[in-house]
Amino acid sequence: MFETDVLEVPQSARTGSLPAESSVRTLLHDVHERYRDLQEGAVADYIPVLAEADPDLFAVSLAEAAGPMHTAGDTSALFTIQSISKAFVLALVTDAIGHESVHEIVGVNNTGLPFNSVIALELNNGSPMNPMVNAGAIATTALMPGRDGAAKFEAIQEGLSAFAGRPLRIDETVLESESASNHRNRGIADLLTSYDRLRIPAEDALDAYTRQCSLLVTSDDLAVMGATLAAGGVNPRTGRRVVSAEVCRDTLAILASCGMYELSGEWMFEIGLPAKSGVSGGIVAVAPGKGAVGVFSPPLDRAGNSVRGLRTCAYLSRALGLNLFASPSP
Ligand code: DON
Repeated sequence: MFETDVLEVPQSARTGSLPAESSVRTLLHDVHERYRDLQEGAVADYIPVLAEADPDLFAVSLAEAAGPMHTAGDTSALFTIQSISKAFVLALVTDAIGHESVHEIVGVNNTGLPFNSVIALELNNGSPMNPMVNAGAIATTALMPGRDGAAKFEAIQEGLSAFAGRPLRIDETVLESESASNHRNRGIADLLTSYDRLRIPAEDALDAYTRQCSLLVTSDDLAVMGATLAAGGVNPRTGRRVVSAEVCRDTLAILASCGMYELSGEWMFEIGLPAKSGVSGGIVAVAPGKGAVGVFSPPLDRAGNSVRGLRTCAYLSRALGLNLFASPSP
């Protein structure tokens, strides 16, 4: 089970709107104070340069779907988006190819196996099963509009920047480090090709995927990106429509079932929000119609989720009454 201490927080069981801005601000400050000294977990090191991350960094942001932002901690710290990109690339691809095609080509069911599983592909006859695992994300990236890998990445960078409301750029050091060590993803991309699941060369799909994982964000960016999904596809900071409301609904459904990989069930049980994590320590959790939480803290638990991030999401879900499954108090 996830290590959370959410039971200490009163469950407000609200399903309506967020509390007043001043209460949200106070809660964000409280949760940051509460977990800033938590010393658990270890920074990821399978991408060599990520091992150099400062384990003390901790940032919490909440973007309301209606516009206001709330922040606490190291919110100017930049980190690579990693797997959290999968959620937003899925949204862009769904916008481009439609609900049915995503269902048919990539799939929407949990593999029950870790994000970088090779055996999941073999067990499912080459179907990646869903766009949140690495196989599904490489396949999704290959479905982006654009004549080749470079054009597809360009569309991804532009689309993710529209979600964040500012231009996102690549961390070249992380890109280089991951490109030199992603033998497993290379194997997955080649296996997808062997099952005739990629319409572009495996190398190009892998390169565009690795680049999207290397885009730099802050916790504020994650919160705004998530709040765009919470607000039916319109970025609450820029007012620009990025994707349709139907695409947001589909994306959030897949995040709910697959966003936290094989632990998605436990995550829903404890936190009750569609969410996505990344190995550099980011998590975005989305409360449809209300807003989104973006958290950053590099030390991860054994499943690869930020320890402070997970505790923070659990706390805020309870304290702000964000859980999708909570009924209104009588
Ligand atoms: O492909 C990889 O392994 C990384 N670029 C991303 C993995 C990741 O963030 C898994 N998430 N929790």
